[in-house]
Amino acid sequence: MIVFNKIAELQNALFEERKAGHSVGLVPTMGALHEGHASLVRRSVAENDVTVVSVFVNPTQFNDKNDLKNYPRTLDADCDLLDECGAKYVLAPSVEEMYPTPDTRHFEFPPVSTVMEGAHRPGHFNGVCQVVSRLFYIVKPDRAYFGEKDWQQIAVIKAMVRHLGIDVEIVECEIVRDSDGLARSSRNTLLSQEERAIAPNIFKALKNSLSFAKSHSVKETHDQVVNEINSIEGLDVEYFSIVDGNTLLDINDWNDTEHIVGCITVYCGKTPIRLIDHIKYK
Ligand code: PAF
Repeated sequence: MIVFNKIAELQNALFEERKAGHSVGLVPTMGALHEGHASLVRRSVAENDVTVVSVFVNPTQFNDKNDLKNYPRTLDADCDLLDECGAKYVLAPSVEEMYPTPDTRHFEFPPVSTVMEGAHRPGHFNGVCQVVSRLFYIVKPDRAYFGEKDWQQIAVIKAMVRHLGIDVEIVECEIVRDSDGLARSSRNTLLSQEERAIAPNIFKALKNSLSFAKSHSVKETHDQVVNEINSIEGLDVEYFSIVDGNTLLDINDWNDTEHIVGCITVYCGKTPIRLIDHIKYK
């Protein structure tokens, strides 16, 4: 495995790969890698001749300076894991390398980019689109792999790819959970022992709501999930939205549409750590 800090050096290596007719898979990450990322990399390795993993904490997608400052950075451990998973190239650029000049492009794809995370983290998806589109231009992957944990992010990236006409297959990979149900996330490493102990109640409440929803309205199910989570000291729901899985707009009735997803963001603990998760009702 080769780790590049310079974009041009990775591009030279990829030029040779393409000349040899090799397909290229890309796994964009912000590092602090865990089993969720490893599953994306393993899938890319299985489906492409060459896998590139980017490790870059993208400043333009953080709307909170402290969140950016505290984001875990563990490049050495990340590279050990990536090597084990069979990645061939890692791109770990500096901010100046990734953004030689400020990225002034503005991406908005309403409603998918403006609801939920889009409304609560202004500018977040704009930054995600800036960095992911740059990575697509740099690597020119045949396929790019994203985890379903960031379910709304995938919808936004698909909208961006359609808008820019980029020729890349977006591969959605299943969420990876710890044995107690907590969705794997780089932010989990920031949880204290007590916070880690209460965090699985988020998915527990979502799972409980699957059977509750069978005999209750959308509003009752919404309120049940919020109350169940908020009743646990240290957990505080920022929002829970039950939405049409395609438009991401709120639904009022279970018969409104064929694909329904409940998306939640919860503050955990004193710091607090912001955790997201979702559940598919149908
Ligand atoms: O999901 C993430 O880790 C980030 O949003 C991504 C896609 C790597 C862009 O920085």
